[in-house]
Amino acid sequence: MVPNELIQKVEALAKEAQSSFLAAGSVDELYQFKVKFLGKQGSFSGLMREMGKMDKEVRPAFGQLVNQKKSEIEKIYENQESDLKKAAMADRIMAEKMDLTLPGPGLATGHKHPLHQVMDDVIDILARIGFSVRTGPLIEKDWYNFEALNIPEDHPARDMQDTFYIDDTHVLRTHTSPVQIRTMENEKPPIRIIAPGSVFRSDSDISHSPNFHQLELLLIDEVVSMADLKGLISYFVKQFFGPQIKTRFRPSFFPFTEPSAEVDCSCPICKGKGCRVCKQTGWVEIGGSGLVNPKVLQFVGLDPKKYQGCAFGFGIERMAIIKYGINDIRLFNENNSRFLTQF
Ligand code: PHE
Repeated sequence: MVPNELIQKVEALAKEAQSSFLAAGSVDELYQFKVKFLGKQGSFSGLMREMGKMDKEVRPAFGQLVNQKKSEIEKIYENQESDLKKAAMADRIMAEKMDLTLPGPGLATGHKHPLHQVMDDVIDILARIGFSVRTGPLIEKDWYNFEALNIPEDHPARDMQDTFYIDDTHVLRTHTSPVQIRTMENEKPPIRIIAPGSVFRSDSDISHSPNFHQLELLLIDEVVSMADLKGLISYFVKQFFGPQIKTRFRPSFFPFTEPSAEVDCSCPICKGKGCRVCKQTGWVEIGGSGLVNPKVLQFVGLDPKKYQGCAFGFGIERMAIIKYGINDIRLFNENNSRFLTQF
């Protein structure tokens, strides 16, 4: 017979092993307990070793008891191990689960360049009131770019526009105004045209690019006055920047218009309060304008007693800069998608 205290000792150990196994939170932890209780140097092996000190009659029954408890414990170990493995697998499956219903990352598609967007908007606005598009060459005859616009060879106004010369009689056009001349030469009034396009000046810094874009507007009819010009421009400004934007005209000089005026509008960014874009003035300059100089009408063979006209020209980049608060004109040509995708 095995003495009671020995039975209790074996059972206490079995209980301790069982509760340790069941408390294990991971296969690793469980394995530590396996080594502690069931390993070669473990507690159950220790009990077996103690057998040597026991009475001969006790040994078989004691051995049997220890083995029986040990195999019960092994069973518990195996069950617990398989439970923990299943739980770990379930956790892993949850963690690595793919949601096939999520939308894909999408393809980056191209879109219109901000300058083209502005140009198209402007054309749209002016087409609505009867203006249609004309174009002209980028390499222009001196005659169209200067002479016929009443800018003679020795006129100081030529210095206003730093010109790229191709040869003695050809330049890269410095403005879109030559399209005024080309149109008046070829078409009969009434004329209502806009001429968008590339222009060139030898000038380059944060606010000047050697190649930029302008849009020219020309209206020729029997009776055209400053009132028409102001009406046209304030309609355009309100359509383009918003109904609350005001327009202001400042006296100026262009050889091809008389009288001439610079056009400002109240700053669309700060609504006239003063900001970086309008240099704290509340106003931004958008272009030049005026009534067509009778001398220009004469140059193209239109009778100044019969016809009058008004014209307006402005920079497309400048419009985009003012509309979107862009601070460097060079951004338009850098093709950086972090800039371009903002529009
Ligand atoms: N062509 C002028 C410029 O580039 C702008 C302008 C156009 C002025 C039409 C008056 C009339 O500065």
